[in-house]
Amino acid sequence: MLSLLFAALAPLLVLAQDGDVSGPTSSASAAGYSCDTSKCQLPNCLCASTSPPGGLKPSDVPQFIVFTADDAVQSYTLDAVNQFLAQRKNPNGCAPKMTYFTSLNFTNYTLVTDWYVAGNEIADHTMTHVGTPPAEEVNGNLIALNALAGIPMSSLQGFRAPFLNYSRETLEILYQSKFLYDSSATSAVPVTDPDTDAFWPYTLDFGMANNCLEVTNTCKGEPKLPGFWEIPMYAFFDKLGVNGPHLMDPWLDNANGETAPNDTATLEYMKDTFNTHYNGNRQPIGLYTHPIHLSRTYPGVDVRNSTIDMINAFLDWAQEQQNVWIVSNIQMLDWIRNPVPVSQLDQVSSLKCTTPQVDASTKICNGMPQNEAGLLSHCAFSDFPFYTCYGCPEIQPSPDNPNPSQQIPDGQAARFRLPANCSTPFWDPVKGQCICTSDTCSFADNSRPVGPNGANLTGGGTGGGFGSSGAAPTPTYIPFNGGAPRFSVGVWNAFAVGLIGAMIGVFGVYRF
Ligand SMILES: *[C@@H]1O[C@H](CO)[C@@H](O)[C@H](O)[C@H]1NC(C)=O
Ligand SMILES: *[C@@H]1O[C@H](CO)[C@@H](O)[C@H](O)[C@H]1NC(C)=O
Ligand SMILES: *[C@@H]1O[C@H](CO)[C@@H](O)[C@H](O)[C@H]1NC(C)=O
Ligand SMILES: *[C@@H]1O[C@H](CO)[C@@H](O)[C@H](O)[C@H]1NC(C)=O
Ligand SMILES: *[C@@H]1O[C@H](CO)[C@@H](O)[C@H](O)[C@H]1NC(C)=O
Ligand SMILES: *[C@@H]1O[C@H](CO)[C@@H](O)[C@H](O)[C@H]1NC(C)=O
Ligand SMILES: *[C@@H]1O[C@H](CO)[C@@H](O)[C@H](O)[C@H]1NC(C)=O
Ligand SMILES: [Zn+2]
Repeated sequence: MLSLLFAALAPLLVLAQDGDVSGPTSSASAAGYSCDTSKCQLPNCLCASTSPPGGLKPSDVPQFIVFTADDAVQSYTLDAVNQFLAQRKNPNGCAPKMTYFTSLNFTNYTLVTDWYVAGNEIADHTMTHVGTPPAEEVNGNLIALNALAGIPMSSLQGFRAPFLNYSRETLEILYQSKFLYDSSATSAVPVTDPDTDAFWPYTLDFGMANNCLEVTNTCKGEPKLPGFWEIPMYAFFDKLGVNGPHLMDPWLDNANGETAPNDTATLEYMKDTFNTHYNGNRQPIGLYTHPIHLSRTYPGVDVRNSTIDMINAFLDWAQEQQNVWIVSNIQMLDWIRNPVPVSQLDQVSSLKCTTPQVDASTKICNGMPQNEAGLLSHCAFSDFPFYTCYGCPEIQPSPDNPNPSQQIPDGQAARFRLPANCSTPFWDPVKGQCICTSDTCSFADNSRPVGPNGANLTGGGTGGGFGSSGAAPTPTYIPFNGGAPRFSVGVWNAFAVGLIGAMIGVFGVYRF
């Protein structure tokens, strides 16, 4: 089993190297962009601009740090993400959410359900991880995620192209399939450069304005896809400036033209680039990860402790600044479409942390580890075995057949797939019933008012220790308001509902 997984994972490690940039990917003349601001108005149209949406002053705007992960969802990869996010809080007291661009190969579907129910965004990265994907690869993944992980179609809104390799046709396929956004384009000119392509996310009503040197038949007004958003991926820049961009997994790159990765140098340039955004127009920053490279639980992956500590040190440092929020793409887009000044962030529902209220003793396969224990099916496919609440397919899903008929074990009945009118944590796939029948089905809101200490809008978190002899991060969270208890493996039950994400990590660690 272990050797099987071993072999099966090797390709991912190779894939993870992709998504690098080495210089500008656009220019003003290649973009030839013009947009009519009188015709293009929020919430469904926004011109590409370096200025914040809604005419807001930068000081009134949150500095978003988008956290994304790409490829398979496995216990190892969720453990890896949890190292950075599980013990942090945004300024409203909520644990940060992130976006997982998921592909089929090696994905453990039940963990997708868990991750989604914990409040994270699940997005599309094709089924079998191909560049310039055909429509079946894009849409098949939606069908499989809906069928096998119970993710509502309405929640699958974003796409990232494998290898960041997309064409004009890819954008058109996404538009036809009613995606809300793509996040495959790059911004690789610093915000301090007058020709910067670090635009705030924008709609394609007036065409693309990024990657104009790379992707043919885009830009100069093309393609026009009204209401469809591009969320550019913003590079960090080392001392070589525009000649030293770092996009995905910057910690794997050599900084400043050196010959080996250097965590100290990476931390320096990540902070420098952050400062240029934060002290400028507050375009978002992104940590775009392939989490398998940061796994300390996956056998054979050799991650430096200093790299883990460095990333946490960066986030600790960033969160000490006012108005810094770690978010998923969809949370950020929600604010961009209806931008309000920082003083009114309480009104932005997507920034809240509402958690589904399901009694811990209820036996229901719903993406909540304490409820679903013992109810999962194990689908023992040789390429990539997985677990699911929704019944194993007879054959491995593929772009030609993303939702094969169900394999029904002797003496059991078929599992019921998620209907459009029930929310994942309330759907019982065994009984085929929604346990949330009226407004009694509740989501508890655990967020607290933004900025209870007057203007102090810092988040909270931990992970530091960088530079202190390579010590591993200490697993203690110091709450922003000083009130809540610290959690550890022993006490997670007490506030399990709010900490599902953290628990997934705990389980993963102990099972391998
Ligand atoms: C898959 O999920 C199951 C159920 O949570 C878990 O027991 C198993 O360890 C996971 N395996 C991987 C490789 O993610
Ligand atoms: C994904 O799985 C399919 C089906 O097993 C296989 O054909 C394809 O090569 C795999 N792709 C990657 C990138 O591993
Ligand atoms: C993008 O993907 C297509 C199809 O897989 C391939 O032909 C092309 O070479 C890729 N382009 C880059 C820049 O990798
Ligand atoms: C690593 O980066 C730091 C900070 O830029 C620098 O002082 C140090 O010399 C670098 N180390 C190596 C081995 O290049
Ligand atoms: C959901 O829709 C089904 C029919 O499609 C209906 O029978 C059921 O009562 C609905 N459930 C809720 C909670 O509205
Ligand atoms: C904001 O509050 C945090 C936590 O209570 C505190 O550590 C920090 O010093 C405060 N910052 C400012 C600028 O008041
Ligand atoms: C890295 O951290 C892990 C987990 O805390 C620890 O077990 C290991 O000894 C550390 N390795 C080094 C080289 O410090
Ligand atoms: Zn990928």
